[in-house]
Amino acid sequence: MFYTASCEKNSNLFSKIQKLKEEKNAIILAHYYQDSSIQDIADYLGDSLGLARKAAATNAKVIIFAGVHFMAETAKILNPDKLVLLPDIEAGCSLADSCPPETFLKFKKAHPNYLIISYINCSAAIKAMSDIICTSANAVDIIKKIPADQPILFAPDQNLGRYIMRETGRELLLWPGSCVVHETFSEKKILQLRTEYPQAQIIAHPECEPSILQYADYIGSTTALLKYIQKNTCKTFIVTTETGILHQMRKSCPDKLFLSAPTLSGCSCNECPHMRLNTLEKLYTSIKNTSPEITLTDMIVKKAINPIERMLQLSS
Ligand code: 13P
Ligand code: SF4
Repeated sequence: MFYTASCEKNSNLFSKIQKLKEEKNAIILAHYYQDSSIQDIADYLGDSLGLARKAAATNAKVIIFAGVHFMAETAKILNPDKLVLLPDIEAGCSLADSCPPETFLKFKKAHPNYLIISYINCSAAIKAMSDIICTSANAVDIIKKIPADQPILFAPDQNLGRYIMRETGRELLLWPGSCVVHETFSEKKILQLRTEYPQAQIIAHPECEPSILQYADYIGSTTALLKYIQKNTCKTFIVTTETGILHQMRKSCPDKLFLSAPTLSGCSCNECPHMRLNTLEKLYTSIKNTSPEITLTDMIVKKAINPIERMLQLSS
């Protein structure tokens, strides 16, 4: 009964959102960690790199960004004259918050000869202080393109930084930030689960800690993980990232089994509390009222666009 009512409610909202989208010439860009109803209505669904590329290419007048603040900011930096909406303006990111601009500026000044490569999961102010931006999809390739004698400061994710060091053999100076979602997986419980499903492959996002990544059969961005399970003949996967990605995995491979990796608390429901602040209702209200809007100063946009464009050029 509840299920029917909620499906009906979603379908009403779907048609209202579609209508408003056409009226306002709007596009919905969504990340895989969004609620499945938002994923289902999105015009484009992707990882941070795909979303940045799509934001750079769109002709729509309004971008509704179903993701978190730093992602919507990136879309705004790429489209300063467009209206960029975030359904819940409080949808932040623990990783971006772990790198406050004032403290980072001091760190940067203390290391003047370093090239600053920042993971896209940071605020616009940090992007403005960086030389190149990267995502989990292109970080290793971008670092490999930097001359070997150039010292690199990598911020803000120390786990992704350690993974890059492992893959490239390069020393990086790391900012000590991390993501709450990817730090809560339990090594012990994941190994127990693999004992129950001995044929299962462990796939993981590089924001996980090295103690987890050491067991992964495959490591990649959300889009890379999705492509991997589609191509691989294995039938069971232990998925070590936010559970939102399971919606697309199950949709694209209904004959395969996807187990969400267990966390330290024992639950297998590792949702990002920031991403999940967006709901279908808030998305509807946001497009209806064309608010809340992302705003940035001209100075920040001017400084932050260069490292983002460098990333897009280096990974085209
Ligand atoms: P990607 O989708 O780019 O892999 O990023 C994951 C993430 O944590 C986004 O916040
Ligand atoms: Fe930030 Fe982690 Fe949530 Fe991604 S999953 S938005 S990195 S807190």
